[in-house]
Amino acid sequence: MDQLTLRKPDDWHLHLRDGAMLDAVVPWTARQFGRAIVMPNLLPPVTTVAQALAYKARILAAVPGGLEFTPLMTAYLTDGTDADELARGFEDGVFAAVKLYPAGATTNSASGLTDISKATAVLERMQKIGMPLLVHGEVTDPAVDIFDREAVFIERVMIPLRKDFPELKVVFEHVTTRQAVDYVSAADAHTAATITVHHLMINRNAIFQGGIRPHMYCLPIAKREEHRQALRQAATSGKPNFFLGTDSAPHPRHTKETGCGCAGLFTAVAAIELYAQVFDEEGALANLEAFASLNGPAFYGLAPNSQTLTLARMAQTVPAHVDLPGGEAIVNFKGGEQIPWSISGAAAVPAD
Ligand code: DOR
Ligand code: ZN
Repeated sequence: MDQLTLRKPDDWHLHLRDGAMLDAVVPWTARQFGRAIVMPNLLPPVTTVAQALAYKARILAAVPGGLEFTPLMTAYLTDGTDADELARGFEDGVFAAVKLYPAGATTNSASGLTDISKATAVLERMQKIGMPLLVHGEVTDPAVDIFDREAVFIERVMIPLRKDFPELKVVFEHVTTRQAVDYVSAADAHTAATITVHHLMINRNAIFQGGIRPHMYCLPIAKREEHRQALRQAATSGKPNFFLGTDSAPHPRHTKETGCGCAGLFTAVAAIELYAQVFDEEGALANLEAFASLNGPAFYGLAPNSQTLTLARMAQTVPAHVDLPGGEAIVNFKGGEQIPWSISGAAAVPAD
């Protein structure tokens, strides 16, 4: 297969930031994705309906003319989150979901939940109204090895959470381990997982290849090869509870190339093309549409996009970086490398 037309995909986990960074990154996502779940880990975090509406307007202002792109906003769960505010935002169609960061787990997570028990009333309400919870699934206990934090999270948090709130829609975000794949595969339709393209493409060796590679550092951190293989199997399986979420997380170059660098890989520039490469390598291009365009909307109770995107086996060189004002830049995942797939067209789905 040298050409593939699919319903326009969506990105179910994305960081867009704000200000000049927002303006620089939005066009790259909007050219390939119809919608994206936008992470709320700004400073200060997006916690209210008013903040989400204002942020959404700033995102829409950054979408280039001629492109249709819908940001789906999320609320940042804190110890003090008001269930009424969340419910109001969900019922008015402002909030699509709520994001749970364990406090201290990752970038801008200081306002996150200190303990899941703090959110009992909020989770009960979300379960009742069908509002999805998106979970950064890593424990923050410093005694737990960084490579084990996701697997330990399943035992300590995810299993009890599912037992207490069996009907709550939960997305186990950016899964990186065989344990998480096994857990989600065995779960019922209320549990799903997103998988990033970088976790499908790199294992932990990439962080240390010939020296320390700050642009390969993200959270959850890339794991051993056996885990990458489990992720590739899950993503390409066509199973409804796995779908696309890039976790594309831009940081200015100087904040990564430093003594204590930020976590995050910027993959938005060629994300769908790289997912296509993975599915092609696995002989599973026929399942790309389910993973990228159908499973996510079905889980969120939305219709698939009404446009299509066509991918072609046509090599392209990924630009090395995306420029920011003042001589700064964001370094692209696979920047400067040739990759085998390109976007060759977009169209409306013909009416039946
Ligand atoms: O690598 C990451 N970067 N992981 C996260 O969970 C957050 C993200 C960011 O916001 O930079
Ligand atoms: Zn993220």
